[in-house]
Amino acid sequence: MKAILAVIRPEKFRDVKDGLHNEGVHMMTVLDVRGCGQQKGYTKEYRGVIEEVKLHRKVMLLIAVNKSFVEKAIKTIVRSARTGKIGDGKIFVLPLEDCIRISSGETGVGAIGGSSDELRKLKQMAIIEI
Ligand SMILES: Nc1ncnc2c1ncn2[C@@H]1O[C@H](COP(=O)(O)OP(=O)(O)OP(=O)(O)O)[C@@H](O)[C@H]1O
Ligand SMILES: [Mg+2]
Repeated sequence: MKAILAVIRPEKFRDVKDGLHNEGVHMMTVLDVRGCGQQKGYTKEYRGVIEEVKLHRKVMLLIAVNKSFVEKAIKTIVRSARTGKIGDGKIFVLPLEDCIRISSGETGVGAIGGSSDELRKLKQMAIIEI
C-alpha cells in the first residue's frame, strides 16, 4: 500500500481527477494548500509596491492505493497536470502502513479501495496485485 501525495496547479485539478477516475482511482482527499518550490516564491507589484509572495496556491491530492494502482496513478497525474513550465508540481510516494475503514472495521488492503467483495473479484480476475 502506498500513499500518493500530489501537489498540482489548481487549474489542472479537474483533468487530473477525471484522468484518475478513468483509471479506476475514485477515492481521494483534496486539499487547498499553499507552497513554494525551488523558485522560492515570486514578486508582485501592488499599487507601486513590490511585494514578495512566498507561497503559491496549489491543490494537494492524497490518494491511498494498493500496489497495482501506484504506477498508473502517477502516470495519469503527470500526464494530466503537466504544462511543461516551472511550477507544475510534485508527487510524493510514501509507504502506507495501514488503512482502517471506520464503518466496517476493515483494515489493510481491503479497506483502501472498494468493498472487500469487489477486491475479491478483482483478485480472482488477477487484476490486482497487493
Ligand atoms: N521539496 C518539497 N517539499 C514539499 N513540498 C514541495 C517540495 N517541492 C515542491 N513542493 C510543493 O510543490 C509545489 C510545486 O512545486 P514546483 O512544481 O514549483 O517544484 P520545483 O521543484 O520548484 O520545480 P519547478 O522548477 O518545475 O518549478 C510547491 O508550491 C510546494 O507546495
Ligand atoms: Mg517551482
